[in-house]
Amino acid sequence: MNNEDIKKRLVLALDTEKIEEAKNLVDKLSPYIGTFKVGLQMFCGYGLEIINYIKEKNSNFFMDIKLHDIPNTVEKASYNIVKNGATFFNVHATGGIEMMKAAKRGANKASEELGINPPLILAVTVLTSISDEILKNELDNKNTAKDFVVKLAENAKIAGLDGVVASANELKYIKEALGSDFKVLTPGIRPVWSLKNDQKRTATPSNAIKNGADYIVLGRAVTSAEDKIEAIKKIYKEIQEEI
Ligand code: C5P
Repeated sequence: MNNEDIKKRLVLALDTEKIEEAKNLVDKLSPYIGTFKVGLQMFCGYGLEIINYIKEKNSNFFMDIKLHDIPNTVEKASYNIVKNGATFFNVHATGGIEMMKAAKRGANKASEELGINPPLILAVTVLTSISDEILKNELDNKNTAKDFVVKLAENAKIAGLDGVVASANELKYIKEALGSDFKVLTPGIRPVWSLKNDQKRTATPSNAIKNGADYIVLGRAVTSAEDKIEAIKKIYKEIQEEI
């Protein structure tokens, strides 16, 4: 796999406490990273300041905002997210097919007005913090998490969304059920040399890509490394050697 193909697939999670640290990551790593992910921690602290910084560097940004509300609100929020320059964003599939369609409507309207390609909209299916037991005992849902993930991914496809966020363990089932064009973004990525932290279902960068991940989310494996550029270069080398 060549460097451009690798870069396109790499998403870096800007999960830092201070905006300066996030800006520093963008400065250092934008030659290697296709998309920077702004999650709730960063967005609630620094909102548009970090987004505009990423855009100034001509990098893509993924608004990891996990929308879940009535369709009208989600449509309007999606419009604003795209107006602010997101190339990716996500919604909870449990918000229902109408809500996901509304997200797409809002996003399409904004991209038409801007004269740009519509963003990729991904659905969050079942959070990895939700186990089979929680589904059954708290949410009165008789599915296993795995079956529910596939069901929700099917709904996302019906709504016209581009793909889902899913762990490496679920990749295979999703691609089998929904086809290889249906995009999957996979967090919980850990090269063999890095700590697992609190992640339980991890995959190495090359294994995730081999199993069909279209995008992989790098977090602490890179952001906690003493030499972040060396860490990212090691990840490139591993992917180049294995794929
Ligand atoms: O540092 P680490 O690699 O664990 O970061 C993973 C990133 O992916 C975090 O931003 C986390 O919120 C996100 N994520 C995840 N598991 C999910 C969905 C998102 O780890 N199921």
